[in-house]
Amino acid sequence: MMACQQWPEPVIRVQALAESGLTTIPDRFIKPKSQRVTNNNTSHASNPNLANFHTHDHDNINIPVIDMKYIYGGGGEGWREEALRSVAEACKEWGFFQVVNHGVSHELMKSAREVWREFFHQPLEVKEEYANSPLTYEGYGSRLGVKKGAILDWSDYFFLHYMPCSLRDQAKWPALPTSLRKIIAEYGEEVVKLGGRMLEILSINLGLREDFLLNAFGGEKDLGACLRVNFYPKCPQPDLTMGLSSHSDPGGMTILLPDENVSGLQVRKGDDWITVKPVPNAFIINMGDQIQVLSNAIYKSIEHRVIVNSNKDRVSLAFFYNPRSDILIQPAEELVTKDRPALYSPMTFDEYRLFIRTKGPSGKAQVESLASKCDSN
Ligand code: OGA
Ligand code: NI
Repeated sequence: MMACQQWPEPVIRVQALAESGLTTIPDRFIKPKSQRVTNNNTSHASNPNLANFHTHDHDNINIPVIDMKYIYGGGGEGWREEALRSVAEACKEWGFFQVVNHGVSHELMKSAREVWREFFHQPLEVKEEYANSPLTYEGYGSRLGVKKGAILDWSDYFFLHYMPCSLRDQAKWPALPTSLRKIIAEYGEEVVKLGGRMLEILSINLGLREDFLLNAFGGEKDLGACLRVNFYPKCPQPDLTMGLSSHSDPGGMTILLPDENVSGLQVRKGDDWITVKPVPNAFIINMGDQIQVLSNAIYKSIEHRVIVNSNKDRVSLAFFYNPRSDILIQPAEELVTKDRPALYSPMTFDEYRLFIRTKGPSGKAQVESLASKCDSN
């Protein structure tokens, strides 16, 4: 697979489209029925005995919330053990959880979200200066994948690199609003620290040396860190489309700052989709495919998607904490046994992420294909 130089067809800026005041969405955004939100609980809806019950609302279910103060030592050793166990449980059961008392300034979280909201509300010309291409994806974009004629998602985004240093180029970050670069640099620094602490926790929980995952990612100087800011405009027909189609994140771990006021993220749990209810000032953390590979599937990346609505647009900051792009990622030796052979063949992250960059979001197809190719004996 080769990285593409250019988009296969003219790019449609979804926000501009939404703001044009249309009342029906173009066919290009209409998902097949099986991928729409109204069809999200067929297992219940198709059961006539349950049809009149609200069993499929999942109103009371949410992903686990972890208070990191106990992990950082507040409360003493017993509490720390307990908190570590609850992270391990969340990783296994959900692959998704929220963290509070994570150490990142709430003010900074707020200003990061606000400055990006301002960015997207600038005139189109200002944003187009950063128009991206599928070669690196850096900049202002509106699609993921280069398949001509693909059904598109109802969102625009901005993608930028923090790390490694060789890829960090502030000239590629928006110059306007004028405060953006400074806020986003600070935000990245804080969130990278949180990512490092999280990797230690995951390593310990997997029974590995606490620096195992960080080293496997290439160490703190060389690991990859990038930010994808998603903008989901209001949509006149939210039931026909998707803000971001089902996918698992290809990288290591994602630290998501969701919108304060608008929910939209849905996490797959068995055959159901659970809408995440964000806790104030929390981050949402999820396992990516590289953690699934490194942990030999003790932890799994989880499919998720984003729904849109007709009342409010939504901004989210997805911070991807990734392995260095040229290191081979494979199951940790300590987690490969006779009873549990290596489930995945080694691959660099660079090579790995070409899949989503070419084919667009496709559930968990990629990590599963990596497993089926592996003759583990
Ligand atoms: C992503 C993602 C979720 C969201 O950018 O990979 O899953 O809530 N975002 O925007
Ligand atoms: Ni994602």
